[in-house]
Amino acid sequence: MVLSRVLRNAKVGAVLLVSAVLLAEGCASAPPRQTSSSVASAAPAARSVVDGVFTKRQAARGGRSFERFCSACHRTREFRGTVFQLAWTGRVVGDLLQLLVDTMPPDDPGSLGTEDYTDVLTYLLQLNGYPAGEEELPADLSVLMDVRFGI
Ligand code: HEC
Repeated sequence: MVLSRVLRNAKVGAVLLVSAVLLAEGCASAPPRQTSSSVASAAPAARSVVDGVFTKRQAARGGRSFERFCSACHRTREFRGTVFQLAWTGRVVGDLLQLLVDTMPPDDPGSLGTEDYTDVLTYLLQLNGYPAGEEELPADLSVLMDVRFGI
């Protein structure tokens, strides 16, 4: 896990480096439109929560689970806005899933299924204004480790 994160960071670093080199060379020598997807084909960049990584339906399910399993102790406003975003920017969605599975609810961590935790997570993303998309966020930690908060 640690190794794969290091590798991923290395990959992101490589993409940044390539971009920096292209910038340094100036636009004249770079292809007219160096899109992020053409960079991604060389070294797949992680997706971000701004890319529509969950569906509305999934977030609605997550809202019902939140109501059922979390709302006794939490208000939704704890999990949205600047404080939440500052806390999570630069990290990956998988870290939040891991935190929820490992610590919530405090009296019985891990008691929801991974799918319920993932749904709740998408509800939190929706609360923060991140867009829904066409496909559900899979309840798969390795996939979630490749979805960044922030841009
Ligand atoms: C029985 C009460 C209780 C329930 C139920 C509960 N929590 Fe918590 N939660 C807490 C407490 C207390 C804290 C503060 C723990 C701390 O900061 O050490 C907390 C902290 C958190 C945090 C912040 C953790 C951090 O380190 O930043 C998140 C996110 C969270 N809860 C999400 C949830 C979600 C999602 C659910 C439902 C699946 C849930 N909690 C259910 C009591 C609860």
